[in-house]
Amino acid sequence: MILEFDIFLEDRCEVRVECDGHVTTAIRGKIDGIQRMPSSIIDHVHSFAAVEKRDVYVLVVSSQDENVVIRDIRLNGTSLMGKPSNLSNACRYPLTTNQYDQEETLLLCQHIASGKKLTMDVMVQKFEKEFAARVGAPYAVMVNSGSSANLLACALLTNFLFSKKLSPGDEVLVPAVCWSTSVWPILQVGLRPVFVDVRPETLNIDEDDLVRKITSRTRALMLVHVMGNCANMDRILKIVESHPMLLIEDTCESLGSIYRNQWLGTFGLCGTYSFYYSHHMTTIEGGMVVCHDPAVHDLLLSLRAHGWTRQCSEATQQQYEKQFPAIDSRYMFYNEGYNVRPMDIQGLLGRIQLRKLEAMNETRVRNYNRFRALIETDPLLSTILRFPQEQEHARAAWFGICLFVTEQYVQHVPSLKKTLTEQSVENRPIITGNFARQPFFQLHPDYKDNTNDSLFPKADLVDQSGLYIGLPCDDWTQEDVVGLVSIFSEFFRFGG
Ligand SMILES: Cc1ncc(COP(=O)(O)O)c(C=O)c1O
Repeated sequence: MILEFDIFLEDRCEVRVECDGHVTTAIRGKIDGIQRMPSSIIDHVHSFAAVEKRDVYVLVVSSQDENVVIRDIRLNGTSLMGKPSNLSNACRYPLTTNQYDQEETLLLCQHIASGKKLTMDVMVQKFEKEFAARVGAPYAVMVNSGSSANLLACALLTNFLFSKKLSPGDEVLVPAVCWSTSVWPILQVGLRPVFVDVRPETLNIDEDDLVRKITSRTRALMLVHVMGNCANMDRILKIVESHPMLLIEDTCESLGSIYRNQWLGTFGLCGTYSFYYSHHMTTIEGGMVVCHDPAVHDLLLSLRAHGWTRQCSEATQQQYEKQFPAIDSRYMFYNEGYNVRPMDIQGLLGRIQLRKLEAMNETRVRNYNRFRALIETDPLLSTILRFPQEQEHARAAWFGICLFVTEQYVQHVPSLKKTLTEQSVENRPIITGNFARQPFFQLHPDYKDNTNDSLFPKADLVDQSGLYIGLPCDDWTQEDVVGLVSIFSEFFRFGG
């Protein structure tokens, strides 16, 4: 019965192991006599922190069948494996909180300690399959961010191997309330972004303006579902289907939102998702592109990694091996490509987080509804603050809490934001506000027209009358919700 571990600090501190409730002191990294531990087990455990001689490490493990599972690592009685604290963020109401906890931390430690490959490997493959099955798309390709997911989707549009390839300068419609990397990839692949105004009551694209912006050069729509709220898919699909237009859904803020029983991100050519730290689930950084077509899937795989055939389907690999027998199949570059691969530990994290996604989203919605109910039953606040309208037939997985003030309070929004910050409530504009107003469009000679004041009045209204605050995936206490509402009450009690 030996648990062998390899702690580089073994001579510098005391290490104890607690297995199934039995405690033993480690001697030079080997521990004998732990009862009930299967004899075949040899596990390697690495520990990380800098220590001093008086420190006591306790590894808490349990034996399950033939495996030793690390349950906890304690330094001087304090767990190192608890939910990582938000030490860097002492805010009472932060924009985002840690979504991963002890389970993820332990499994990541075990994965790293096991010596398994850390670069993209089986964990990413498994996560892709599980993610695709969960959202209801046949294929998913994991990348290192949501921005990279948008980049691949746009690169696909102009790729010389894509059957519906777009031409340089073709127009891609995009709502003016969007994220920067909803737009930059369009430009980066040589297409032209054309902004569309939004509906302030839903934050999403205005379908009437969408129709107005269609020209003979329009070839695609980069639809953004803002803050978990679903766009009007019935109308949008009708518009897309009646024009020669491809649909990409930027679902980076809306993972888990559902429209007529279908997950957002699965309606068009591609859907993109972000697993950045503050999003619905996290791989720290990370993203995903989903698609329906096996040929598109292969192109996305090659675009993700160097343009080679290596991760493509067997059929594609064989096709090029046959066509180019003189080229070593391990380095067969049949397409242009980037390197936007994720790491395998991100795949592992994604798999665990995916299992928790529904529960986390339910908690967020519960917090959202509790806060909303208090605002809407407050005699003063209910006359001042508004929430975005949810689309019919849709279930929103809220990303944050978006709030608007009524018209006569718009001028107070800057001081409201300042007060919230002072009162420890982190806040931001609703995404980037009216993105067409960003300096790039004033500085770049080709895009100066976008800054015309009359172009996106409703995106301006979202910008000027709205803000968003964080929505945690842990339940707020009653004190938390009441405390948050009272900060708004205090502000507006004397007229803002
Ligand atoms: C709508 C939208 N698209 C794309 C992204 C980019 O995702 P990432 O931060 O993972 O690159 C974001 C990020 O917040 C986003 O909100």
